Amino acid sequence: MVAAPVVNITVNGKAISARPGQTVLQAAADAGIEIPALCNHPHLRPEGSCRVCLVEIEKQRTLQPACTFPVADGMVVQTESAKAVESRKMVLQMIFSERSHYCMYCQMSGTAQSTDCELQKLGYRYGLNHWSYGPNYAKNWPIDATRTHFVMDHARCILCRRCVRACQQIAANHTLGVQQRGFKTMICADDNVQFGESSCVSCGTCLQVCPTGALADRRSAYRGHESEVTRTKAVCLGCSVGCGIEAITRDNQLLRVEGDWKAGNEGMLCSVGRFDVVEPKPVRIMWPMVRTDGRLVETSWDKALTFAAGKFRQAHRVAGLASPRLPNEALAAFACFFHEVLMSNEVGLLYGEDPPLELGQPAVLHDVAASDCIVIIAGNPMKQQKVVGHLIKRAYDNDARIIVVNDRPTELDSYAHLRLQLQDVSYHGESPFEQLKNTYHLRGTGVSQLKAAVEAAQRPVVLYGGGLTTTVYAALRALPAKVHFLPLINGTNAAGAARLGLRPRPVHGEALYVMVGDDLPDGMVLPHRQFTLVQSAYRSAWTESADVVLPAMIWAEMKGHMINIEGRSLPVAPLLVAPKSVHACWETLLQLSMRIGYSLSFDEISDISKAVV
Ligand code: FES
Repeated sequence: MVAAPVVNITVNGKAISARPGQTVLQAAADAGIEIPALCNHPHLRPEGSCRVCLVEIEKQRTLQPACTFPVADGMVVQTESAKAVESRKMVLQMIFSERSHYCMYCQMSGTAQSTDCELQKLGYRYGLNHWSYGPNYAKNWPIDATRTHFVMDHARCILCRRCVRACQQIAANHTLGVQQRGFKTMICADDNVQFGESSCVSCGTCLQVCPTGALADRRSAYRGHESEVTRTKAVCLGCSVGCGIEAITRDNQLLRVEGDWKAGNEGMLCSVGRFDVVEPKPVRIMWPMVRTDGRLVETSWDKALTFAAGKFRQAHRVAGLASPRLPNEALAAFACFFHEVLMSNEVGLLYGEDPPLELGQPAVLHDVAASDCIVIIAGNPMKQQKVVGHLIKRAYDNDARIIVVNDRPTELDSYAHLRLQLQDVSYHGESPFEQLKNTYHLRGTGVSQLKAAVEAAQRPVVLYGGGLTTTVYAALRALPAKVHFLPLINGTNAAGAARLGLRPRPVHGEALYVMVGDDLPDGMVLPHRQFTLVQSAYRSAWTESADVVLPAMIWAEMKGHMINIEGRSLPVAPLLVAPKSVHACWETLLQLSMRIGYSLSFDEISDISKAVV
């Protein structure tokens, strides 16, 4: 084994080892020495614009920015020398004076111990208790509140450009930029239009990296300092990507969601994962309801379950449909309930699609961003798996070749170097489910073009959806071994459901049990049956047509596991405590089984987890 090269430097009298190519700031941070910085962010390329990180380096004529200055063997650095501190104080005073940082009205502001503002934190640290240069109240700094989820207050902006770089380097959206020069410089969107009218996709990455209160989240602002909230790492159940999130909660309320920098999505989230999950939903169902005289009337769990059990016992055949948003444990218990208790095989998913998983070497999310040739066949990631869409755009920025193969326009068409047409060769059957089953084919000439493109690349990735003909899947399987494959699964946990044998399909029976969880109908109509039980977190068109309605947990209350787009089993951690009258789906099934007269083969969620994870 060859030892990795090491660069030896001294910071504040401490000898540390750095890696070649590291900056002084990175090397110091790795050694546990914090150098104050503002425009720098560990997940963005350094820019060196704020000059807060200036340090004294032996043999350098002037102070140097630690965030851009590379380490060199024998280097001696002082981060808190009188000269460095003096300069830092002056830079901070100028930043404070540049705009009207009237901290007492800012949601990030606090005491030396509680402030969330990186600028204010440094103000406290360096004892800035007055303005050496008067604050700039003269200009009426605008506030742009035209975006739904967050607000831009230019008075609090320090022009660090973290937001601009995040929009370019992480989201690859290129909406944010800078207009004017010098004193008049402002962050702008597109050609200086209102943010709400710009090409912003509300991924909120800019919000996550803003060091001050310039970008403010509408829902969580003023609802608690960092010191008062709890951060919990979890997984987003918005789609099958299963992005890592950090949920910010307080008093059993979800305030905000941020991307987990350490997860496969590397901090990136889409608008669904960051904002939609926190938005208020329709009316929550808190107690079971039974239809009485045409109306749904609240009742006890015992009465509702006993009534439903009686109906299921009487029915000749009971059918079941479950949402693919549910974790493995709920889906496994649902399948088990049908197979063991009702002795019925009429069980499937409400929707969802899980293309074949074994086409070749599996890709991870990072492979997409690092690829030099990406084929997207039968999928629309900018719509269904948005974070993957952003990773494709990031690869495009790094000169990756993009090939889009579809039967209809997609949001990535404008990025495509090659566009190939899929042909619909489907058979349209009688039932609505059969009609959904379209099948698409790509002619041999198209396959040859794909093959030539991936052969010419070094790190090709094929992203593929469902519904292709077996010939096309066989052709994909036959691509060179260097190709990595990522299935574009629709339905958050459709992959987990498929492993349990649950797929969207027509189900038959005079009674129907629909386990919805916190899903919403989105225009989908349930088939009409003699008796329908809907277990749902929210009132919807589905619950309004049911005979019995049972409450269900929302995603933030659930516990279990899901299988993501990479085929990884991810833990679904409860972030909030469910209301006392709302039970986990698997517990409901246990209770219902007992009332029907059978017991299921598990007593605890851990029993199911062991069987399915
Ligand atoms: Fe180094 Fe801003 S953090 S110049």
